[in-house]
Amino acid sequence: MIRNKSIIFLSIAVLAIIYFTSCRSITENFASSDKYRLVWNDDPTSTITVAWNQIGGKNPIVLYDTEDFGRKDWKYKLQQKPQHTKEKYGMFTNFVKLTNLEADKKYYFVIKDSEGVSERYWFKTAPNNPKAFTFIVGGDTKSRGASLEAGRASNRLVAKLRPLFVLFPGDYTSGNGTSSEDWQLWLNDWSVLTTTADGRLIPIIPIHGNHENGDLGNLAYLFNAPYQANDTTGIYYSLSLGNDFLHIIALNSEIEQGGLQREWLKNDLKNHKDFTFKIAAYHKPFWPHTARKAENSYQYKQWSDLFYQYRLSLSFDADSHMSKITYPLRPDSTENSFMGFIRDDKNGTIFLGEGSWGARPRPNNDDKPWTYKSGSYNGFKWVHIFPKQDDKQAYIKIYPVISVEQYTNDSIILYDSIVESLTEDNLFKIPKNLKIQHLPNNRNFVTYPFK
Ligand SMILES: [Fe+2]
Repeated sequence: MIRNKSIIFLSIAVLAIIYFTSCRSITENFASSDKYRLVWNDDPTSTITVAWNQIGGKNPIVLYDTEDFGRKDWKYKLQQKPQHTKEKYGMFTNFVKLTNLEADKKYYFVIKDSEGVSERYWFKTAPNNPKAFTFIVGGDTKSRGASLEAGRASNRLVAKLRPLFVLFPGDYTSGNGTSSEDWQLWLNDWSVLTTTADGRLIPIIPIHGNHENGDLGNLAYLFNAPYQANDTTGIYYSLSLGNDFLHIIALNSEIEQGGLQREWLKNDLKNHKDFTFKIAAYHKPFWPHTARKAENSYQYKQWSDLFYQYRLSLSFDADSHMSKITYPLRPDSTENSFMGFIRDDKNGTIFLGEGSWGARPRPNNDDKPWTYKSGSYNGFKWVHIFPKQDDKQAYIKIYPVISVEQYTNDSIILYDSIVESLTEDNLFKIPKNLKIQHLPNNRNFVTYPFK
């Protein structure tokens, strides 16, 4: 009797051990990292860079899959260790480049280290065929006061609008871009506020602005942004997606705009001339729409003829802290032109800017005869892009979104909190309570080709 009881007890104990060792539970411990971000710095249809700050712990690794396994790290079939690390501005940044990804696909991931497992995040790769999607363009954030809060409101709108990517044409922090405290604040805000409620990270395409001039390599250190001629001070590059659908050129207005950069731009435009849409972005506008900003005639001379020669669709800039949209323009030196531009609805480039993501808006007091609409507010351009369908030509719609209005004495009105959040199923819907600037003809968008 006693012997039988012992056998039963022993069997239960063995079974219990087998059961508990085969069944793993999610760790309650979190990875010792923060400031998670995604960067597009190569072919966005098959690669993405995951970057983060490693606070402590050892052996960090990204575990990823097309299936969502939540924080069950052991279930993810694919993995990649950091290929590159950078210690700068009080952060130890890990860069993991994921390659051989499938186009137009959802990927789920966690970051694991010796301390634990991160939250589960996810992202979408770019399509490799013409397909409709949205993206956001805007720059100029500040590190303090009402401008910091305004930038945070714009960040939160990114999470609500869920664009495919954000193109950020420069000026991230106050000062000259060498403050550890300011960069940490910016990266933390970006990570926390632009991530959607269901953990989707929105990739950034970073562009160099004058507030990064304290070190021309800043974006290489913090985003692994591409640079030319083996020189981290020459950060300009281009990306393509949608199989000849959209080509994106990230230029640098803070270094020599002629010489090597002009030559590179010419070749890049030539090599991608057959794309349906070509867009460029850079920090400083040729001709700012606020009076106290200097004209940039040298930059106009280096780039505007190439933009026209290769039929650039849209050009995005920043720096002035206000908003402008022009008619389509081409360079012209006849007496009918103004500041070297003349309206050309058929072949011209629409110029959009001028950077008011968070920085205190300046007055829009320098319109030109070819200005379509300007404004003084915080916000960004929300771009909807559509491929050719049946007999309808491909086209782009651009909405000038207002996230904040700033008044004197640091008093601001934030508009983001009442805005409806979009879902992955209604990405082209204008969300309830989204504030958009009124444009001529009772519209709140401009189209390319221009109508
Ligand atoms: Fe600037």
